[in-house]
Amino acid sequence: MARLVPLWTREPSSDAATIGAFLAERGIAFEAWNVPAEARALAAKARLDDADKARLLAIFGAELAQKASADGYRSADVVALRADLPGVDDALGKFDRVHFHDDDEVRAIVGGAGVFGFVGDDGRQFLVEVSAGEYLSVPAGMWHWFYCHADKDVTAIRLFRDVPAWTPRYRSTERGLATREPSADGSG
Ligand SMILES: [Fe+2]
Repeated sequence: MARLVPLWTREPSSDAATIGAFLAERGIAFEAWNVPAEARALAAKARLDDADKARLLAIFGAELAQKASADGYRSADVVALRADLPGVDDALGKFDRVHFHDDDEVRAIVGGAGVFGFVGDDGRQFLVEVSAGEYLSVPAGMWHWFYCHADKDVTAIRLFRDVPAWTPRYRSTERGLATREPSADGSG
């Protein structure tokens, strides 16, 4: 279940309608995808081979076709991050610095969980935790970052308008940005 944390109130919400409306106001598409048992089983594997990834894309064929026609996301692939995957910390280190892309960043989570952080147009920051069955599209040009919890387990379908590409443009300074949820005692 998704969880929204506006960092200026620190009052989390797990209400899907509230989260959807909050994100829609900011141009972020957010919706629920049904994840059938076969997909959940594939996403629970320690490693996904090419056949597993192709099967996942086939399972979500209808959803992907709908996105291709509605939003022009005509290309997709599967990423599966695991704590013991070689290079996972390097990969995550690229994601969790504040950046934007020239194209939308579109993810449908099919296993595990992760957290997107955003800087809104007003400069205020908010976090959105996403897990299996949640689809989110970060609009092109929007400052954001992404991180996993300590278990570093997330399996996601990435959607692209054209060929898969992920070129981040990093902020020159991230000073003053809290990229994690503050701890209850204020030490975070
Ligand atoms: Fe990104």
